[in-house]
Amino acid sequence: MILSRSNVVHYLLDQGLLGYDSVVDDEVMVSDSTRRNRNFKVLRGAKQGFFIKQVQGWDAQTVATLAAEAGCYRLAREEPGLSALAAIVPRDLLYDAQRHILVTGLLPNAESLMEHHRRLNAFPVEVARLLGGQLGRLHREPMPPLEGRAEASLFRRQPPWALSSHLSGTMFGALSGGSSKLLQILQAYPDFQRTLDEMRRDWRLERLVHGDLKWENCVVYPAGSEDGRLDARIVDWELADIGDPAWDVGGMLQAYICFWILTMQFDGEVPLATVEKTAPYPIARMQPSIRAFWTAYAAELELDPQAADTMLMRGVKYGAARMIQTAYEAMQYSPQISPSALALLQVSLNILKEPKRAATELLGL
Ligand SMILES: Nc1ncnc2c1ncn2[C@@H]1O[C@H](COP(=O)(O)OP(=O)(O)O)[C@@H](O)[C@H]1O
Ligand SMILES: [Mg+2]
Repeated sequence: MILSRSNVVHYLLDQGLLGYDSVVDDEVMVSDSTRRNRNFKVLRGAKQGFFIKQVQGWDAQTVATLAAEAGCYRLAREEPGLSALAAIVPRDLLYDAQRHILVTGLLPNAESLMEHHRRLNAFPVEVARLLGGQLGRLHREPMPPLEGRAEASLFRRQPPWALSSHLSGTMFGALSGGSSKLLQILQAYPDFQRTLDEMRRDWRLERLVHGDLKWENCVVYPAGSEDGRLDARIVDWELADIGDPAWDVGGMLQAYICFWILTMQFDGEVPLATVEKTAPYPIARMQPSIRAFWTAYAAELELDPQAADTMLMRGVKYGAARMIQTAYEAMQYSPQISPSALALLQVSLNILKEPKRAATELLGL
């Protein structure tokens, strides 16, 4: 069964998540927000809503990633030791392993952090602080033993592919012109080789990590209190794994840098240093939020200044590696490498070579 706008309500009725009477009494609204997956939002009246996600490709890997997300939600619900995880995920309602469908509670009047920043044309520090705290609490929480649980096999304990992206033969299948150029560049610069090799060797299997942290996967919504405060949840746990917390920290840090770069207007051969001067969203405008995120994160982990510094450097470097992935994703269907993808690679390499300088000058930390 492939979900569509016209059958998704029937599906919820069949699964017992919606009652027939409620459908008659209340207006049920369905909107399609398909992206990588087939996604639907279903709203019943003002009170009850569902977010429904079904895989588009039914290959083993795609199916396994949705199963991993469902597994995280199940662990959050059932493992008392994972209360920080439970506090930052949406409410999970159903995982249909036959049809590869996941249903969570729709967060009311929500938008992704990307949409939030774009709508406000600003980068509010409160939300950044909130997310830093949530991530810090997640990473403080040791993984309970999973022996005997089905979820144990969901986590592959693999470093992300970006850390091997400079090795030839790591990517298979048809590559776009843009992606293969990108890989050629990685292979041509010894500094990419050296730093990515180092980071792969230094990869730690420490905590449950989200694995794909970026603004699109952070959801903000009104907390419902009188003061109009916002709350946040982290969604899309398909790449969750037991791994290195620095990857998640880096994911968040690079999101700011990528937004700064990807909103610049590149014009032919004009160098980045020139284009940067007319960036619509100068990185300096985001620095207060970057600081708020990092400070809240480090506070939750109760790191002493030296440990915080080490963690920050690792986060900055893994974030730079994550930028390679962001550039790759942007080039997946592009016949040629774009100037903005080249700029992402250039900035990534600069950060990898001088992470300390990047932390101060770029991130304002
Ligand atoms: N439970 C939810 N309530 C409200 N919005 C959500 C919910 N889950 C996801 N979203 C929104 O839908 C978008 C896509 O969801 P996500 O799980 O990231 O799907 P995909 O795997 O297709 O990227 C998110 O960026 C977020 O804005
Ligand atoms: Mg997503």
